[in-house]
Amino acid sequence: MVSLSKSNLENWTEAVRILRAGGVVALPTETVYGLAADASQDKAVAKIYKAKGRPSYNPLIAHIFDPADAGKFVQVNELAQTLIDVFWPGSLTLVLPKTSGLISPVASAGLNSLAIRCPKTDWAETFLDLGYRGPIFMPSANRSGHISPSRAQHVLDDLGDKIDMIIDGGDCPAGIESTVLKIEGDRAILLRPGAIPVEAFIPYISDLRFAETASAPIAPGMLKSHYAPRAKVRLNAVRKQAGEAYLAFGPTQIDADFNLSPNGDLTEAARNLYGALRSLDNVEVIAIAPIPTLGLGAAINDRLNRAAADKDR
Ligand code: TXA
Ligand code: MG
Repeated sequence: MVSLSKSNLENWTEAVRILRAGGVVALPTETVYGLAADASQDKAVAKIYKAKGRPSYNPLIAHIFDPADAGKFVQVNELAQTLIDVFWPGSLTLVLPKTSGLISPVASAGLNSLAIRCPKTDWAETFLDLGYRGPIFMPSANRSGHISPSRAQHVLDDLGDKIDMIIDGGDCPAGIESTVLKIEGDRAILLRPGAIPVEAFIPYISDLRFAETASAPIAPGMLKSHYAPRAKVRLNAVRKQAGEAYLAFGPTQIDADFNLSPNGDLTEAARNLYGALRSLDNVEVIAIAPIPTLGLGAAINDRLNRAAADKDR
């Protein structure tokens, strides 16, 4: 079992050493904690799949530390460059045609596209200073299908006996994963609503569409059951029933077990969401108040709908 390592230069240096040597390390990002492996090493990338129990058909996001590196790995067209200039470093993942053989095919699920993002973290700069440019592959650091981790303890609970190191950077500021956009010429398709609300892209994208929730998902994160607690989830609950834990949002008369945001602030609610679901996951049913679908509410409702979906248990 690993223990939590503090965020300091000594530990970042150790993290880089482990990554170079083909190990897997959990790192804080501005969205959620990720499980990182060096993207050029097949064996290291395979360790991510093994530790998470992730199906091989679910591809990973390549993370770079300098936005200018994108062109080494994917075809960056005009629209992609505009979005990179505005939103990177930050919580936007772009799916683009893959150009480089330098990164492991193990993470691509046979696709000729690559999902790529430049996270907004302090350590990206430190990695560059240490002479390590990555890229790293980095899915959320949870057991596959379980709730994503927004604090280091969540990673320890899910994966502590399966990985080489966990760096504790405190609570993730966004608390929900990056927004995923697939770019096709001057069209963008929203594959996953996330930490940047879709409304923010409207000034930059003339043809912005929602992905159809097809039976064969283009992003396996779109699988109906995902982000799931053990408990059953009851959505749009306006009262608490016997035996339920109640997850509130905004001012309420109900005797809530947790309130995602007493003032009805969606940013605060997103930050609290995964921690709340994990802490209430010792009951039969978690009843959850209605949450508006505007702004970050779209990503919150997307995760809640998946948490509520029927699944093989
Ligand atoms: O905020 C985030 O994006 C976090 C942090 C750690 O960076 N990472 C994350 O990775 O959420 P993961 O693996 O949990 O989710 C990646 C999503 C999945 O739904 C995956 O199917 C999709 O991106 N994806 C990856 N590559 C893709 C591709 N080439 N085409 C379409 N979807 C892809
Ligand atoms: Mg994930």
